[in-house]
Amino acid sequence: MSEIKISVTAKASTKAETVTAIGVFPNAKEDALAVFTAAQLKAIGASGKAESITRTLGPDGKAYALVGLGSEAPSVDEWRELGGAIARALSGESAVELNLPVVGIAEAEALLEGYALGTYKYQPGKAKPQAVSLVTALSVDKKSINRIHAVAKAVNETRRLATTPANELYPAKFANIAVDSADKLGLKVRVWDEKQLTKDGFGLIAAVGMGSVRPPRLVQLVHAPKGATKHIALVGKGITFDTGGLAVKPLGGMLGMKYDMTGAATVLGAIQAIAALNLPIKVSAYLCLAENMPSGSAMRPGDVFKARNGKTVEVTNPDAEGRLVLADGLSLASEEEPDLIVDVATLTGAARIALGIRYAGLMGSAAGTNILEQAAENAGELVWAMPLAKELRAALESPVADLQNSKVGSTAGGMIVGGHFISEFIGTKKDGSKLEWAHLDIAGPADNEGGAYGYTPKGPTGVMVRTLVALAEGMSAQ
Ligand code: BES
Ligand code: MN
Ligand code: ZN
Repeated sequence: MSEIKISVTAKASTKAETVTAIGVFPNAKEDALAVFTAAQLKAIGASGKAESITRTLGPDGKAYALVGLGSEAPSVDEWRELGGAIARALSGESAVELNLPVVGIAEAEALLEGYALGTYKYQPGKAKPQAVSLVTALSVDKKSINRIHAVAKAVNETRRLATTPANELYPAKFANIAVDSADKLGLKVRVWDEKQLTKDGFGLIAAVGMGSVRPPRLVQLVHAPKGATKHIALVGKGITFDTGGLAVKPLGGMLGMKYDMTGAATVLGAIQAIAALNLPIKVSAYLCLAENMPSGSAMRPGDVFKARNGKTVEVTNPDAEGRLVLADGLSLASEEEPDLIVDVATLTGAARIALGIRYAGLMGSAAGTNILEQAAENAGELVWAMPLAKELRAALESPVADLQNSKVGSTAGGMIVGGHFISEFIGTKKDGSKLEWAHLDIAGPADNEGGAYGYTPKGPTGVMVRTLVALAEGMSAQ
């Protein structure tokens, strides 16, 4: 929930309770609004260093936040980060005015978007309602403000869901949250419970979920506006807790595995924003929900199960569970032959080793990968394309089934092997060619273990929600 109300005004307010954010370039004669002299800025310690924020009383008796802009005019992406940093610094205020030197509409919108993303608090009650106003002569239209509110609300909802502890958020509960949200937004929704999953052939989601007393679910949400010509399917990994199953993780690796449902939370957030904006494109979201637990009823290493698309899988490693639930979700998504399938998952620790903690690993068909790179660029999010190196496909050969889910003992290209596995469940078009597809491994950037920076809070980041919204916008414009 975004607790802020954004507006745009041509005239600065004179209200005493308003805190005004103004820009400072390093070594300038004065701040960008000429409220403070260079000597005053120096005395206060407002250096102009990018993202430094100094609160002070002005010579006019008003409250100011002096925002360092760095030595060059900030880029669009830098304005977004600045907006977040200002929002975090001024979170307790009831009224804020941004009187900053944004040079164009894209910069102004990025500043406000970053601000809205930076106001996030896990407990909505703890975020005080705030009115934030951008003082500018630029004509930022109402539609952009609505977009910013809707997108920030969705990103913040994703962060909140991911943060919820696993004792409170289990598959059936997650499914209920999705249904409530669908009802509010007018989305079609369908939920498969554990019996229906088995009956309808989702053998892999059922297998992952069978070790838990809290049974699995599959949720499909559909945004189908009249006249839409394109169709995107979004598939999210929703492991509400990943113990590793019978390949139980050591505590250090298990702590944080409540975040293993972030892919599902991300696609839910994305379709919420897409529906709220009523984008003219059909979007189907699939949440693949299960809890991966070790127990007397858990799947064993060596067990074989049949997926929704008919392929059999030998579960050599019960800790490679994300690809199993995605396999069934992707098979179902393929049945409608969408123009593009995108899956999002905290899939592999290998993604963190390869790319660190800010880039999502991107794999898929050539067209799918390209279009996602463009969408991420438009949204200002970081993805990095990885090759589906063909020699690594051999790791998935099983002597007893069509595939095994992991080659135990081999760590070579772990993120890519995950991509290969998933690719086996992307269906074909009527002409026999494979559907377009992109896979986002967000094991790195889903959770920010360090301190907050820019618009990114500590903990779940909501990464890729904005990229998926940008994707839907780009494809609806075609
Ligand atoms: N949920 C984990 C991946 C993960 C690890 C996400 C660390 C975020 C942080 C996933 O289910 C997993 O356990 N993957 C295994 C795959 C392996 C068994 C092929 C891994 O990465 O070790
Ligand atoms: Mn696992
Ligand atoms: Zn997992």
